[in-house]
Amino acid sequence: MDLFDKLRVEQGDLGKFSHIKKKDYFMFPKLEGEIAPRMQFNGKEVLTWSLNNYLGLANHPEVRKVDADAAAKWGLAYPMGARMMSGNSVHHIELEERLAEFIEKESVMLLNYGYQGVLSIIDAVVDRKDVIVYDAESHACIIDGVRLHMGKRFVFPHNNIENLEKQLQRANKITEETGGGILVITEGVFGMSGNMGNLKDIVALKEKYNFRLFVDDAHGFGTMGKTGAGTGEEQCVQDGIDLYFSTFAKSMASIGAFVGGNKGVIEFLRHTVRSQIFAKSLPMALVVGALKRLELLKKNPELKDNLWKIVKALQSGLQKEGFDIGTTQSPVTPVLFKGGVGEGANMAMDLRENYNIFCSMVVYPVVPKDVIMIRLIPTAVHTLEDVEETVKAFAAVKHKLDAGVYQREEIVAITR
Ligand SMILES: Cc1ncc(COP(=O)(O)O)c(C=O)c1O
Repeated sequence: MDLFDKLRVEQGDLGKFSHIKKKDYFMFPKLEGEIAPRMQFNGKEVLTWSLNNYLGLANHPEVRKVDADAAAKWGLAYPMGARMMSGNSVHHIELEERLAEFIEKESVMLLNYGYQGVLSIIDAVVDRKDVIVYDAESHACIIDGVRLHMGKRFVFPHNNIENLEKQLQRANKITEETGGGILVITEGVFGMSGNMGNLKDIVALKEKYNFRLFVDDAHGFGTMGKTGAGTGEEQCVQDGIDLYFSTFAKSMASIGAFVGGNKGVIEFLRHTVRSQIFAKSLPMALVVGALKRLELLKKNPELKDNLWKIVKALQSGLQKEGFDIGTTQSPVTPVLFKGGVGEGANMAMDLRENYNIFCSMVVYPVVPKDVIMIRLIPTAVHTLEDVEETVKAFAAVKHKLDAGVYQREEIVAITR
């Protein structure tokens, strides 16, 4: 058999709808124009609720200027090489210091990408004697990091502290024999449900069990906590988080990531995290751009206030119309419907085509087969009018869903 024979793209249930519109309608859609609540899709303006541009920094004039000036000054290559070899700079160090101050950790290390960073940190921290205990709804980067682990790993049902305690007892038995330690991994805010990780209760378990806690706060940094320092701050347990991770891909509207913790541990990571040692360091333009974003995030609390104004209006507006938004405690806003993938696709398409609302649809296996999840990400630059328009559109499509209008195998032209 030729190795490549099995390499076919299975587009899943959504794939069969691709021929109706352009190939890149549901998967790889092209949003065009400036990053903003209103962008172009398929040749017309749509109201977008799909971008993790929580604080609206992506197109902030000061950010755009600093990004452009830094690119002009440094180019995109500088500095060349891995951080450890020839890719370090005073600005990289400054950004780490500013981030460490902000998240109240002794030390911070920059990472090129969040995904590789998380995977590689897990790989660096544990060896075969150690045990990992992790939340079942963890992001792919955590799951893939756990896959690299040569020792035991135990999973606990999402946010189930009672079960986590059981897993800690199992882990403890093993580490007593191996002489290893325990790493618990969870998220600050879960990107699909919007639930916060139950950090307070997890940290409280440290009284009874000896473990270290790694929190991926990709969706919490900038959006949660009094100063925006994240979910640890929100739940007053930042000290109990041993490794605090976030990405620049969301509130910071850029590329890159970081991990913070005690000085000695971060120093260890600088020498052992393979995704950094064996990869080129973050370009200067991104580092200088991140310094600007962090400054704006800290100096302009109104960005987070605006975000939350929109979050509250959107979530309460949807709830008032009788929508199920699950158990979200964060800006992430899932809207849940009963129905199959086909119906969901019809509905998402109706929203795009006839109501000019662009949302992403989440399908099985992220949600059960008979659940349609449409996930909305509010941002600081949406307006209350945007919210009103969206809630109205959702009310209209729900009506059609309930009336069975979307129960067709194939999407046909849906008109208002
Ligand atoms: C929870 C979580 N962790 C990690 C990542 C990966 O971050 P990056 O985009 O910087 O690779 C993401 C997505 O961006 C995420 O949602």
